[in-house]
Amino acid sequence: MLEKIEKLKEEISGVIAGSLEEVEQLRIKYLSKKGSISALMADFRNVPAEQKKEVGQKVNELKTMVTEKIAALRESFALNGDRELEELDLTRTETPMELGTRHPLSIVKNEILRIFEGMGFTIAEGPEIEDDWHVFESLNFAPDHPARDMQDTFFISRNPADILLRTHTSSVQTRVMEKTQPPIRIVCPGRVYRNEAISARAHCFFHQVEGLYIDKNVSFADLKQVLLGFARQMFGPETKIRLRPSYFPFTEPSAEMDISCDICGGKGCAFCKWTGWVEILGCGMVDPNVLKACGIDPEIYSGYAFGMGIERITNLKYKVKDLRMFSENDVRFLREFEAAN
Ligand code: DAH
Repeated sequence: MLEKIEKLKEEISGVIAGSLEEVEQLRIKYLSKKGSISALMADFRNVPAEQKKEVGQKVNELKTMVTEKIAALRESFALNGDRELEELDLTRTETPMELGTRHPLSIVKNEILRIFEGMGFTIAEGPEIEDDWHVFESLNFAPDHPARDMQDTFFISRNPADILLRTHTSSVQTRVMEKTQPPIRIVCPGRVYRNEAISARAHCFFHQVEGLYIDKNVSFADLKQVLLGFARQMFGPETKIRLRPSYFPFTEPSAEMDISCDICGGKGCAFCKWTGWVEILGCGMVDPNVLKACGIDPEIYSGYAFGMGIERITNLKYKVKDLRMFSENDVRFLREFEAAN
């Protein structure tokens, strides 16, 4: 009996199989009811009592060995099968297709939104075709404000001159405020249009991100802290900011924000025109007239707003000198942003 077991062990350690069917035949040969191991078991009752323990152990060892061997053989075929399936990619094109790259303005827009989302802002969007009320009137523009001039704004309907292409994303502030009571904390990315001659420094369309925070007891200090946090995340932890008084119809007080020039570190160079500072956005405390126009009580709530040009931020970050490059879509230019994707 012990001899038979040893012989079987040797035989089994040498078996090979060429296919899954052959593995199945091996299983039947050794492990099925009519297989060699069952036959050994049947003989077991003839083993003298004093050998039963030893023989029993050996038969068990043999059974484990065969079971493991067959499982291993089966697995090797199953794996090969999977690999073949993995290599068969039905979505692959016959010839390799070139991958595009994200547009630099999208890269920068996503980065801006990510930073503000990290500070608790949510994203809101509005239409590019707007009416006078959302773009101008609700935002406290006087009827004779120069921005309402045909020279600056693309009007779609002439008489009355009411439907137009939005000139700034501040219109999204109005759209959100007229539907939502505070607290409101949003950033609004989007394309805006102005009737400008196209040059290296101006375009008839460009992109902005607007920010708005309305709640009880919002102060100018809150605005400054959020903008400092943004500037440092966008341009590096050493970045300094400064606010200069300015004017916008929809904020009071209003300011423009500069950041320390990241080329010369504030020492002064040709890029910052030897001032050490570059302007990046407009901001201020939301004018009570704007809150009133949108059905929010200025006696209870206050808030701040800010607006920045995505092209401007991209210029500063990637030193793109000519605005026209953003809309020409020259692949050699776009490829330069591959690493930033
Ligand atoms: N709407 C302004 C523009 O297009 C940018 C702006 C300035 C937005 C100040 C604001 C702000 O929300 O508070 O030039």
